[in-house]
Amino acid sequence: MDALEGRSPFGGLRPGIAGLLESGIVELVNYGRERDGLIPLWVGEGDLPTAPFIRAAANRGLEAGHTFYTYQRGIPALRAAVAGYLTRHYGVPVDMERILITGGGMQAIMLTLQALIDPGDELVLATPVWPNIMQSAEVIGGRLCPVAMTLDPERGWTLDLDRMFDAVGPRCKALFVNSPGNPTGAVLSRDAMLAIRDFARQRGLWIISDEVYGRLFYAGRPHQPAPSFLEIMEPEERLVVVNSFSKNWAMTGWRVGWATAPASLGQIYENLIQYNLSGVAEFMQEAALTAVTDGEADVSALIDRCRAGRDLVCDRLSTMPRVRFAKPDGAFYLFFEVDGEADSRDLAKRLVDTANVGLAPGTAFGPGGQRALRLCFACSEARLDEAMDRLQPVLT
Ligand SMILES: Cc1ncc(COP(=O)(O)O)c(C=O)c1O
Repeated sequence: MDALEGRSPFGGLRPGIAGLLESGIVELVNYGRERDGLIPLWVGEGDLPTAPFIRAAANRGLEAGHTFYTYQRGIPALRAAVAGYLTRHYGVPVDMERILITGGGMQAIMLTLQALIDPGDELVLATPVWPNIMQSAEVIGGRLCPVAMTLDPERGWTLDLDRMFDAVGPRCKALFVNSPGNPTGAVLSRDAMLAIRDFARQRGLWIISDEVYGRLFYAGRPHQPAPSFLEIMEPEERLVVVNSFSKNWAMTGWRVGWATAPASLGQIYENLIQYNLSGVAEFMQEAALTAVTDGEADVSALIDRCRAGRDLVCDRLSTMPRVRFAKPDGAFYLFFEVDGEADSRDLAKRLVDTANVGLAPGTAFGPGGQRALRLCFACSEARLDEAMDRLQPVLT
């Protein structure tokens, strides 16, 4: 019997599906989720529920009976509001015809890969990276070409662009870029983006730019977004930008996101949405509309909270001599290494057992991450302080 089929009582599964890896983050969550009093900093979400005015908008939609199938590309009011939001924040006109509402950023990624990657086509991406990106390429039979970043104490997690370009072979269809990055928090400079754009143009490649953490940027003017490919590419170029309501508006459980794609691909995405999901629920889109229209003060508060969380965690960990890290410029994660600990999966389990703190093991994030741990700092200072008190004896 095929070794992979041994993982299922049934034969006949597609090998690529039978061979999918369990998310290394979820594995740790399953290991520790029942522990009493555990401080969970392992998943990519904060500790605040969605704001009441957004929840109320969903309730209003439900009460009004908005429970039917709806527009596959998203309700027009939401698509227009998202286009306006992008135009405001990035200073370039974005037409609503480019906006496709999806089941979270996750589905925007999957639909985009479905549209672009044939079995055997290659996707070049920098790692460590969110495991779902690698596994969604596997689902559709794409071949991953990971390029490992390295942790430089001065410059942070850095990507060698020449190595990325060298990884592009004849079957490469797209470069996947995630800035600010999960798990590293690394932010690509505008110059790096220009170099990637020029290379992609020259080679006829697509750029899939995952910008779900684009507002969580700490290096510019207060509340200035991180550099975006939207700012440097034309509407009808080979660019898809992935975004989400999950992070900025604390809506992880809602599963609403969007892709910004060339308008000429509208019907392609409409078909893919129809055949994967058949549209995001209307009352949830109404809540997302309220979030993007009236939620800017909340986004600003979230950015400030995350910056404070980052500073607290970095200050506390810098007193622990075995811990090595560079302060991240974006996202809401610290991805740090611990001297003397080569296997982060073991270490993460040990931290659950001895410190009652849940961190994600770097082994989950592909080449370059094996020795590191990911900590989500989108939490109250009290919770982070308590977590640091618990981690100190183990990591010192
Ligand atoms: C890099 C990255 N992209 C996309 C997503 C998708 O988020 P969601 O599907 O909740 O919108 C996440 C979530 O953690 C992420 O970290």
